[in-house]
Amino acid sequence: MERKLLLPIGSVGLLVCLLVAQFPVPSTADVNGGTTCAGCTIILSLVDQVAEMNNESAVDALTRLCGYLPDQFQTACKGFLDFATPILLDLILEKYNADVACHALTLCYVDPGQQACLLYPNQQQIRSGGIRAVLKSLYQSKEISKQTKQIMMGKGVGLKSDICDSLPGLKGLCEWLEGHINNHTAVSDIDQDKFGITETLRGSHWRGKDCDDFDKTVYPGRRPKNNDEETDSDCNGIYGVNPATGKTFEEDYCANSDHRGVLLLSDSAGAHFHIPGEWMTASKLSADVFKHVLMVVEDEFDWPELSGTTGYMNTTWDIVHGLTDSLYYKLVQRNRCNHRDFQNIGVNGARAEKINTIAHSMSRDPNTDHPAIVMYSLIGNDVCNGHPDTIAHMTTPEQMKAYSLSSLKYLDTRLPKGSFVIVTGMADGRVLYELMANRIHPLGQYNQDITYKHVYDLLSCLQVSPCNGWMSSNETLRNYTSERAANLSKALEEVVQSNKFMNFKPYYIDYDIRTVIKEWEDMGGEGWQMVEPIDGFHPSQDANYMTAKHVWKQLETTYPEIIGKVNPNNDAIYKQFGDQGGY
Ligand SMILES: *[C@@H]1O[C@H](CO)[C@@H](O)[C@H](O)[C@H]1NC(C)=O
Ligand SMILES: *[C@@H]1O[C@H](CO)[C@@H](O)[C@H](O)[C@H]1NC(C)=O
Ligand SMILES: *[C@@H]1O[C@H](CO)[C@@H](O)[C@H](O)[C@H]1NC(C)=O
Ligand SMILES: *[C@@H]1O[C@H](CO)[C@@H](O)[C@H](O)[C@H]1NC(C)=O
Ligand SMILES: *[C@@H]1O[C@H](CO)[C@@H](O)[C@H](O)[C@H]1NC(C)=O
Ligand SMILES: *[C@@H]1O[C@H](CO)[C@@H](O)[C@H](O)[C@H]1NC(C)=O
Repeated sequence: MERKLLLPIGSVGLLVCLLVAQFPVPSTADVNGGTTCAGCTIILSLVDQVAEMNNESAVDALTRLCGYLPDQFQTACKGFLDFATPILLDLILEKYNADVACHALTLCYVDPGQQACLLYPNQQQIRSGGIRAVLKSLYQSKEISKQTKQIMMGKGVGLKSDICDSLPGLKGLCEWLEGHINNHTAVSDIDQDKFGITETLRGSHWRGKDCDDFDKTVYPGRRPKNNDEETDSDCNGIYGVNPATGKTFEEDYCANSDHRGVLLLSDSAGAHFHIPGEWMTASKLSADVFKHVLMVVEDEFDWPELSGTTGYMNTTWDIVHGLTDSLYYKLVQRNRCNHRDFQNIGVNGARAEKINTIAHSMSRDPNTDHPAIVMYSLIGNDVCNGHPDTIAHMTTPEQMKAYSLSSLKYLDTRLPKGSFVIVTGMADGRVLYELMANRIHPLGQYNQDITYKHVYDLLSCLQVSPCNGWMSSNETLRNYTSERAANLSKALEEVVQSNKFMNFKPYYIDYDIRTVIKEWEDMGGEGWQMVEPIDGFHPSQDANYMTAKHVWKQLETTYPEIIGKVNPNNDAIYKQFGDQGGY
């Protein structure tokens, strides 16, 4: 009995655990079922809508949805289907909604001293503590089956323990993923030089692709060995001897060309966290939109290859909308010798304290490598958390100074002479609530009933919000959070201005999201398009694109020494080496 119940929970747990392991919540408490409850509510809300759309039963709708998922997720989805079937057959979803159904499934519950957490608005009776009464009358009604009653009793379901621990198979997989992902280094990296050859799992989506994974002295960003007379040791695609001059192409085209790599130390915004809006829009669900789920999971729900700092390609997938531009991409256009010299060390949930350890996964040898431009960019997590007493968990300006100085000192030991470190300030996250709160969330599109405010409130209630301070209906709290963010930005600016470093020059620039939004609106765009459609929190693809342009312009006009000169040999390089080995 116990195992039978555990299995399906574990299966839906796998999906949730993967999502949660990656969800950029820096620090949360997690009550009333937390992320499991949120996951259940989202899934059953979609099932309800799909059933209505297709005039079919909830069981048929969930079966249809499972069919859309790739093979690797079939067992998990069917496990959840089996588990939920009695509740679905008893029409609890039809008669009530996903909130009640998930409470009946005991994936959502009410912890002592807590209020029930609900997604759907206008449930006054339930909201005022009446969910227990609803469940009780449901339990006592003759219309529900014995199986449903058993589920509602929650027999044998260890919900409060870590879901990753509830199943042997699941535990192994979770540990494997967490072990690799927590190292923030390429998983397939035979020569252990921190650059890999696969795209995902911290591979070439994150750091320039290794052009020889059997030789640890060959990797992007190094100064070329023997000027790459015979082979390419810096992976920029330029090597060999120029018959016209008798010198190597590296000497002819790249010597003294102001070669610089781009290194990003950042959070989920820098890594470009994105959950496709299609995944939670009932009318858009199809096998097609879920084709790439596995890759998305392997990249921790981040899209560094499309990001505003290290992006290098336009996507052809229709689950991302907008073009790519980035600091790295512009630097390559400026000097093709910089090809593949980028590292995105963005980690979901990272804040200043954590960056001190995360920074150790970067790769730069002060003796053998080219100088780098490091972006130190933490735009929110130091004031963002899911705790109800959110203010007590914010970083203080004194802490910010200590943490960031410690990171800069570490960088000074790792960067080649002549490098640059650009520290950005934090965002004014009040724009989120201003732009999004009253808009319809993808989950509410079909019935025009769920807004971002409802989603923010559900996450806050479950204490899994990525940012209670800004995703709150309390304007005083939102203002306070922005004031703290401004204080932390000031602390960062002071650290930059009052310290000298041996190997790099530090700079401070604001993270001016309001100006970027204004520039987007001036181009005919709408402000809300700058925010991620599902989480209502992260900068969108368009925002990454606009931020790249904004930052570049600032560097060009104010700090041209950082970006170096234009390489006059760019055309010659293109003519000789084409796409330089691509990515
Ligand atoms: C929905 O399906 C039921 C039976 O399955 C049928 O009686 C009803 O007419 C259908 N409604 C619509 C709008 O197609
Ligand atoms: C993570 O890194 C540590 C230290 O570099 C290493 O010992 C460990 O094996 C790595 N773990 C994985 C899963 O690669
Ligand atoms: C993406 O496409 C746009 C428009 O075609 C182009 O200008 C831009 O250079 C492309 N970006 C990348 C990273 O290839
Ligand atoms: C929040 O800040 C804005 C802008 O500074 C101000 O206009 C508004 O009155 C403040 N709201 C509250 C509740 O303090
Ligand atoms: C709003 O937030 C402020 C600052 O945290 C707090 O003092 C106040 O009690 C909150 N107001 C409400 C209505 O919760
Ligand atoms: C910001 O700093 C000012 C000046 O030190 C201080 O008075 C204020 O309380 C700080 N605000 C927050 C929200 O931390």
